[in-house]
Amino acid sequence: MSKKTSFGPANHVQRANPKSYFLKTFGCQMNVYDSERMAEALARDGYSETDDVAKADLVILNTCHIREKAAEKVYSDLGRIRVIKDARKRNGKETVIAVTGCIAQAEGPEITARQPAVDLVIGPQSYHRLPEFIARAETNNERIVETEFPGDEKFAAMKAPRRVSSPSAFLTVQEGCDKFCTFCVVPYTRGAEFSRPLAKLEAEARELAAAGARELVLLGQNVNAYHGEGPAGRTIGLGELIRRLAGIDGIERIRYMTSHPRDMSDDLIAAHAEVPQLMPFLHLPIQSGSDRMLAAMNRKHRAAEYIDLIARIRQERPDIALSSDFIVGFPGETDQDAEETIALVKAVGYAQAFSFKYSPRPGTPAAALEVQVPEDVKAERLQRLQALLEEQQMAFNTEMLGGTIPVLFERRGRHPGEFVGRTPYLQLIYAAGDGDLTGRTADVRVTDARRVSLSGVISAA
Ligand code: 5AD
Ligand code: SF4
Repeated sequence: MSKKTSFGPANHVQRANPKSYFLKTFGCQMNVYDSERMAEALARDGYSETDDVAKADLVILNTCHIREKAAEKVYSDLGRIRVIKDARKRNGKETVIAVTGCIAQAEGPEITARQPAVDLVIGPQSYHRLPEFIARAETNNERIVETEFPGDEKFAAMKAPRRVSSPSAFLTVQEGCDKFCTFCVVPYTRGAEFSRPLAKLEAEARELAAAGARELVLLGQNVNAYHGEGPAGRTIGLGELIRRLAGIDGIERIRYMTSHPRDMSDDLIAAHAEVPQLMPFLHLPIQSGSDRMLAAMNRKHRAAEYIDLIARIRQERPDIALSSDFIVGFPGETDQDAEETIALVKAVGYAQAFSFKYSPRPGTPAAALEVQVPEDVKAERLQRLQALLEEQQMAFNTEMLGGTIPVLFERRGRHPGEFVGRTPYLQLIYAAGDGDLTGRTADVRVTDARRVSLSGVISAA
């Protein structure tokens, strides 16, 4: 384990004739985390990273299946990579192409059928076997499709030391989802909920802190459903996990995502009041403000219950900044339903949010519904919702003007002497500083507010 605080790709193992890999990540933070773990395993095996596909002996696309657009992008990338693979072959160089992530899980052998240049198709539960699969593809020209859900824990088998490329580090604490929202592929691609045990998470968090992490972002498809093995075999929830991780030296900030309203326990809400390291920001998707749509989506709660939940959270942590995901144009959505989403957004007031047009996903119940909403109606509803969300985001950022706020700096900016960090409310903020501020927290007076970022002046480090 490295005790040195170092950021960036400098800590690769160097070998005489190193192979290189190109790794592209699509989709959510879970995939970013998985990509980091794969990169660490590859570095241990002597691979170095390249951002030029033409130089790569191994190309990995870590894919996302959540909406059709993300999936189609992968196939168009694969088409381009195939041309490069053919050109390299003419020069006597082999290229192994691997598709990992949720498309691998969902489509399996269909991928190699559609794009024969692909050698490996590996689902998210089999990443620890990546080195073995690569070796088999290289030496025997084997084509492998591996999409099993083994019962053991994949991370336990990935023994490479954790590296940190940023003071804000991802830590996957939970995987999979048992909620079965009718639009969503996650329960099929990531499988049933599985929570990693406290002991393993504490060990990994300590390793991350020693490598320079100052913030932990706890990840899970349904992270607040976390129910891992705690002390003496007792099951603990996310609130208790957060309290334990907050005790680790060097960890100044903790965040978690993504949560389901039904799993927001009183203990987790209480943690927002009690744990100073737990940042006042919550990504709590509701998807729609219409009870009719919420029922059709199988969200298992009504809009009023969400509003009530937000009130209870605000009682514990009045300054909490809220974020959500929304889907417009779910099958059967009427103008009235869309209006109810607008009303809910006005009632809650979001600091930021993501909104999407409904995208039918093969195998999900909603895709089979006959009352699909026309594309132009979806586009119009999305535009209206996004205009309101953007207005709220601008208002939230503008409120910060003139105030002083602690900022954890994550990296250098584009301009000399400029650093980029995050406020407790997850806002991106720019400030100039002397020396290297990366990994340090400083008070910043906010002098400028835009919709997606702030600027300020450091008042105290
Ligand atoms: N169509 C559109 N958006 C979707 N999401 C999940 N599935 C779909 C789909 N089929 C959105 C939800 C979820 C976020 C991660 O992606 O809003 O919260
Ligand atoms: Fe998908 Fe989230 Fe619903 Fe689970 S809770 S099915 S991950 S949208």
